[in-house]
Amino acid sequence: MIKRTIVIDTDPGQDDAVAMLLALASPGELEVAAITAVAGNVPLERTFDNARRLVELAGRPEVPVYAGAPRPMFRDLITAEYVHGDTGIDGAVLPEPVVPALDDDAVDVIIDLLRERPPGTVTLCPLGPLTNVAQVMVRAPDVVDRIQEIVLMGGAFYEGGNTTPVAEFNILVDPHAADIVMRSGAPVVMMPLDVTHRALVLPRHLERFAAMGTPVGDAVHGMLDFYQRYDVEKYGIAGVPLHDPCVIAYLLEPSLFSGRHCNVTIETGSPITMGMTVVDWWGMTDREPNCFYMRDVDSDGFFDLLADRIGRL
Ligand code: RIB
Ligand code: CA
Repeated sequence: MIKRTIVIDTDPGQDDAVAMLLALASPGELEVAAITAVAGNVPLERTFDNARRLVELAGRPEVPVYAGAPRPMFRDLITAEYVHGDTGIDGAVLPEPVVPALDDDAVDVIIDLLRERPPGTVTLCPLGPLTNVAQVMVRAPDVVDRIQEIVLMGGAFYEGGNTTPVAEFNILVDPHAADIVMRSGAPVVMMPLDVTHRALVLPRHLERFAAMGTPVGDAVHGMLDFYQRYDVEKYGIAGVPLHDPCVIAYLLEPSLFSGRHCNVTIETGSPITMGMTVVDWWGMTDREPNCFYMRDVDSDGFFDLLADRIGRL
């Protein structure tokens, strides 16, 4: 497997945290060139601080973390403390960051990285609202063609929304940014709720993290134990869907996932369906396919990969 260079754009968030740890536990396959924080689950100052704490928890303090957009492009910020807790990573109390905060702007960092690295060698992994990625495309249209792939968590269609009846959180927070990304022509792999709701971490899985007896295992167990409460109560399911780790698992073992290349268009006009990802799964329109839309995952294989890698930290 050729080592991939990735940027993780994130709004930690317990599931973002597990995705980051999965990536940072896989240095043989992934070069994490930068982690960029965006406002989403909780405000930017918290997502930035959480990301800095997580790279140190992973024993990877050399991975640079940068702060990006504090709010969506046009809409007011909506956050999700009701799901993630006030810190965004409730369930774990991580040490204060030791590495001083970097003050470079995340969007500029991504633009510079795309210009410095050979074309087609940097993959962007957005795990939150797409504000930073859209700003990259607006500020520097020349770099769009240099993006190897955008593998993002967001969207929903057959599963319905998790924040409105039709909209998934990441897309709803900044639908205009999502529209820019989906119209950009960059190669996109979308991990929507249709697939992430099948990547359920069950109680028996949770206990494997607790049994690791490591600071990382304990933190993951605590975060997911807290995080599951909302989904278990809302959906009545016996597990917590691990949305964001699906992005990293796809990079490590793409055969775990299946989907179809089709058109996904973002609703940015209607107040009723704002942020909806309209998926032309059956090719019923003349809209060009613009992403690989995932709908299924081998959940046992997904979890085995996750537990194996987290167990390495
Ligand atoms: O809808 C799920 C997504 O919204 C995940 O990325 C979660 O972290 C939140 O950002
Ligand atoms: Ca997220």
